[in-house]
Amino acid sequence: MKVLGFESSCDETGVALIEVPAAGTPRLLAQALHSQIAMHQAYGGVVPELASRDHIRRVLPLTREVLRDASLSLADVDVIAYTQGPGLAGALLVGAGVAVALAAALGKPTLAVHHLEGHLLSPFLSADAPEFPFVALLVSGGHTQLMRVDEVGSYEILGETIDDAAGEAFDKSAKLLGLPYPGGPHLAQLALQGNAAAFELPRPLLHSGKPDFSFAGLKTAVLTQVKRLGESPSDQQRADLAAATQAAIVEVLVKKSLLALKQTGLKRLVVAGGVGANRSLREQLNAACAKRGIRVHYPELSLCTDNGAMIAMAAAMRLQRGLGQLQRGGSFEVRPR
Ligand code: KG4
Ligand code: ZN
Repeated sequence: MKVLGFESSCDETGVALIEVPAAGTPRLLAQALHSQIAMHQAYGGVVPELASRDHIRRVLPLTREVLRDASLSLADVDVIAYTQGPGLAGALLVGAGVAVALAAALGKPTLAVHHLEGHLLSPFLSADAPEFPFVALLVSGGHTQLMRVDEVGSYEILGETIDDAAGEAFDKSAKLLGLPYPGGPHLAQLALQGNAAAFELPRPLLHSGKPDFSFAGLKTAVLTQVKRLGESPSDQQRADLAAATQAAIVEVLVKKSLLALKQTGLKRLVVAGGVGANRSLREQLNAACAKRGIRVHYPELSLCTDNGAMIAMAAAMRLQRGLGQLQRGGSFEVRPR
């Protein structure tokens, strides 16, 4: 069976084709991605209406590219999967609309996928795929959660953020430092030259004893420091503040992941979502987990941020387990929240 997957929840248009064996790991046949980052950069963030329009422009050329790379045609596709939410309503409508329309024209079923389940299962696209059960640290631009994952579809939230997501903390702090959108990778780059000890920043809820998070206070503390530095901070001061911000976010993510692992007694951690691409986070998680005999799995770097492969993969893993709610016909619904 072959699954074609569409991702269009935010500012990346992703399309991918996956081969689903009756047993064993599904295999990525081809994927194509178009990032809108350059387009939104001028506005300092994602402009929803521009995002929707660009998804419309990109989605069919990307689909043709994927089919060509796999030397297949639409007639070879058995199921069409799409991101149902969460995300921007107009952006979601493009991927969902195209998926449902193609499926109706071909007489094939569709499968709606939860964007976060896509992130969560993206490490299964790696050669070194994890095994169930595991603790998952899901860190994206919109979400920060620790979960116990026993199987596909069996998810227990152990803790989550009570305000901003980790990616949001990176992005908002980066904006305060005058860095372009999306700030996370830019802040990480600037932090390489900085000394994290030069600024003292808060680690909210670090000692709450629960795997929960709060990042809003950190953003406020960064703002206070930026104001204190005045109109023209030196390059070194900006790098130091970037390093201190990253250190604060990473320390909290590492400590809370260890807490969730301890509470569940599990010995496997899966990290997914855009912030999972952060090098400092990976280094510190690897070091802390190695000491405790815990295996850590990440998606490939290119699959940390939004992509079509993770959506097709989540659909494939559901279908293999008889968990997919296949739909036929032309009606559909997106779930922005
Ligand atoms: O998962 P994702 O692509 O989109 C959402 O579903 O939100 O995550 C995007 C987030 C952004 O906040 C971005 O700044 C952050 O991931 N990010 C990073 C890095 N790469 C992406 N944050 C820190 N360090 C990075 N290297
Ligand atoms: Zn995402």
